[in-house]
Amino acid sequence: MSDGFKGMDIVSIRDFSRDQIEHVLDVAEKMLPIAKGEEKSKLLDGKILGSLFYEPSTRTRLSFDAAMTRLGGSTLGFDEPKGSSVAKGETLADTIRMVDAYCDVIVLRHPQEGAARMSAHFADKPILNAGDGAGQHPTQTMLDLFTIRKSKGKIDGNHVVIVGDLKYGRTVHSLSEALAMFGAELTFVAPPSLQMPKEHLKHIQSLGTKPKISSNLEDVIKDADVLYVTRIQKERFPDPAEYQKVAGAFRIDLPMLKDVKKGMVIMHPLPRVTEISPEVDKTEHAKYFEQAFNGVPVRMALLSMVLGAVE
Ligand code: NCD
Repeated sequence: MSDGFKGMDIVSIRDFSRDQIEHVLDVAEKMLPIAKGEEKSKLLDGKILGSLFYEPSTRTRLSFDAAMTRLGGSTLGFDEPKGSSVAKGETLADTIRMVDAYCDVIVLRHPQEGAARMSAHFADKPILNAGDGAGQHPTQTMLDLFTIRKSKGKIDGNHVVIVGDLKYGRTVHSLSEALAMFGAELTFVAPPSLQMPKEHLKHIQSLGTKPKISSNLEDVIKDADVLYVTRIQKERFPDPAEYQKVAGAFRIDLPMLKDVKKGMVIMHPLPRVTEISPEVDKTEHAKYFEQAFNGVPVRMALLSMVLGAVE
């Protein structure tokens, strides 16, 4: 199983078994002192990460960069396609072929669903999907699972309430599929027009999980062990008027947390807009900044494993 990671593309969470995910989380745990800068490492000395971001990013891009640098490797690439030959009309396939020759591993974020899978056909080096449109975001899922395991001690058996934009949110597509694999209890809260797409629901059900569907957070928040909040993905709405109808649909504030379980954790892949009031940041429930840091050890684990430096 474990030597299966070398050279592997990470495109969808469906490419992984539960054992493989747990192994990634175990390796990430060992990376923590290096991720925090308490220990030095030359594990990926001389290795280069090609970092291609066709969409905005703060955490994903910078935590990949930090992960590579902390392990003694380096990063090159672009954080917006305007400054590259993409602006001259170069196809994704050609850009990938080039970067494949310059680097040892490639991380790609692209607005089109399926872009990472397609790129994997044109690259010999591993492709890590950092988000393909409204498709998947598997490395985010690994750090989400790492955060749940760290704060709750385990993943299975938790009731995870996922709220926000379940239609266009790629983080929750990958995460809910992974949670179903772990046997967590799932509740999806969204306005009906932004509920989880059928294709993902079908996959989740095929794993033996029957999620509850709701449009009212007040009804379910008291039973949550984990509350996973997401941003309404404004940029994916074909019609701005449709976005206006659902903008601000949910907002977590202190009064809403009055009757929640002790030890309930609130997560968010970030960036947040108005979904979580800043006064929540100071509560024991808020885990989203720690979650964002966890991107570093988890991406260190994934980079080392696909590059064959760690089994
Ligand atoms: C998310 C994304 O890009 O899908 N951000 C992230 O990677 N942490 C979530 C979002 O943009 O809302």
